[in-house]
Amino acid sequence: MSSVLILNGPNLNLLGTRKPEVYGSTTLADVEELCRQEAGKLGLDAVFRQSNHEGQLIDWIHEAGAEVKAGRCIGVVFNAGAYTHTSVALHDAIEAVELPVVEVHISNVHRREEFRHHSYLSPVARGIVVGFGVYGYVLAIHGLYQAARS
Ligand code: DQA
Repeated sequence: MSSVLILNGPNLNLLGTRKPEVYGSTTLADVEELCRQEAGKLGLDAVFRQSNHEGQLIDWIHEAGAEVKAGRCIGVVFNAGAYTHTSVALHDAIEAVELPVVEVHISNVHRREEFRHHSYLSPVARGIVVGFGVYGYVLAIHGLYQAARS
């Protein structure tokens, strides 16, 4: 069975209690369950991870690149949190391993502070889902699935 990696960056472990007016009251455990169910419907195994550390995220991206090349993984759904707006290293990691990534943001970052408008990941992403709450993860899984089939 092929897998899909769902990767979450800094502060997303606080989902449910962190600024619920922006991110909603769903917890990361709820998002994991949602992703597992949706991936399962497509015959995919969801691997779900979160880290507050940039280097850890980079290591997982490298691993995922190897898994995709081996035909065992279709790609990564990635909410990099604030690293989206700061991390050249994450940009380089995705580019280096030619990883199919769908960038996800729960909130519509373009309606928020200007520092959230720029993404270092978008230029190396296969697609972007922004502003649909946690349902964005579901949309991203479907997008990645279609991209892998075409
Ligand atoms: C976020 C948006 C980012 O700007 C922010 O730093 C996050 C969450 C989102 O999902 O809306 O941590 O990626």
